[in-house]
Amino acid sequence: MKPIKLCIVGAGQFAQNFAHLFKAHPMVSEVSIAEVIAERRAAESKRLGIPRTFDSLESALAAPDIDAVALFTQRWMHAPMAIAAMRTGKHVYSAVPAATSLDELSELIDTVKQTGMTYMMGETSYYYGATVYCRQRWQQGDFGRFVYGEGEYLHDMSHGFYEAFQYSGGDRWKRTAGFPPMLYPTHSVAMILSVTGARMTQVSCIGQIDEHEDGIFRQGANDWNNVFSNQSALFRTSDGGMARMNEFRRVGCGGGRSVRMSLFGTKGTFEEMTGGASWSDLQCHTEDVEPLIKCEGVYSHEQWERIKVDVQLKGDFVSGFAQVHQPLRDRLPAAYRTQPNGHEGSHQFLADDFVTACTRQTTPTVSVWDAARYNAPGIVAHQSALKGGELLNIPDYPKPATA
Ligand SMILES: NC(=O)c1ccc[n+]([C@@H]2O[C@H](COP(=O)([O-])OP(=O)(O)OC[C@H]3O[C@@H](n4cnc5c(N)ncnc54)[C@H](O)[C@@H]3O)[C@@H](O)[C@H]2O)c1
Repeated sequence: MKPIKLCIVGAGQFAQNFAHLFKAHPMVSEVSIAEVIAERRAAESKRLGIPRTFDSLESALAAPDIDAVALFTQRWMHAPMAIAAMRTGKHVYSAVPAATSLDELSELIDTVKQTGMTYMMGETSYYYGATVYCRQRWQQGDFGRFVYGEGEYLHDMSHGFYEAFQYSGGDRWKRTAGFPPMLYPTHSVAMILSVTGARMTQVSCIGQIDEHEDGIFRQGANDWNNVFSNQSALFRTSDGGMARMNEFRRVGCGGGRSVRMSLFGTKGTFEEMTGGASWSDLQCHTEDVEPLIKCEGVYSHEQWERIKVDVQLKGDFVSGFAQVHQPLRDRLPAAYRTQPNGHEGSHQFLADDFVTACTRQTTPTVSVWDAARYNAPGIVAHQSALKGGELLNIPDYPKPATA
């Protein structure tokens, strides 16, 4: 096995939470940065201690010694960049979402099949304490048959999104801040489907038309002509169950985890809400499981200071591990023991999963087929919302038996 050279594409807010992890990984021999904004490129190169830089994705793709790119560009850019990268022989780690249209998802899958390159979507919620806990109990059979799941990402614009979109979009920030909530569905969807292994087959979604005076979610005011700031979708699942996803960007809710889930089975149920999480079962046994899934510890105060989101959401970006993560930590490189983590304990697992998949040539944890399974339900949900809640079918992206 040969170590890889990896280029981080997009040195914005999120990339800084992964640069140190890729640098510290024993199977990464060099990390570089590609960033189109010259001042940001220079500043991040210095601050993160990464001397080699490129002025764009294209320049990085032209460098023959770069083995992999990690895409941390804006959320609607990922699929075309990932496809271009794989076609030039680079492995791809992509921040979420994988894509914003079904055509992009199909092309991503075709490109993985044609090129044989490794593609992984960095779905943070895959490793949240709640999801890890539910996967363990699911595998033990404690839920019984799947009945109903809830996944939600509740993030009010005033909780740091204004600042993040201004940093990201510059003078055009309002045109991009109106991104349709359901085109960012993977955190919510993955929390349920990464436990049950099923897929969403049909959806009916309703959107709430925004009325806020900032005028961001208005016809003509953003690049998607999107008027919805909140969207709620009801799904049918391939295992005969039901699920509900909420993507809210105007909601007076905070203080707890912004991404959360509940999962109801015929034998047992996990429920998460602001202030805690519980397990209960058919025999009326109840248990407070918050101590198992709550992440403790913050490693870096410098990171803490730099995050441009509201103080109560900073814990999303900079976090330690939960008790439920402990058994999984054995497989992480020893060098990670002193490294910062983030997003409910997920960053270290995701960085290691990707590097391991590239170097061992194995299918990564969140493969391109999983990415499509978590992403497509939101894309179709948004189409449903535009049609007043019409029930629509969601395509299947079956993982080949060999993957
Ligand atoms: N929990 C999570 O999984 C999570 C959390 C936060 C952000 N994200 C995702 O991470 C991504 C990055 O978010 P962010 O807040 O850091 O965005 P950002 O806007 O702060 O950073 C993106 C950077 O990419 C650069 N860029 C754009 N096009 C480029 C190109 N062609 N070549 C090189 N650089 C280019 C931009 O100049 C910018 O600096 C987003 O897609 C977001 O959805 C995921």
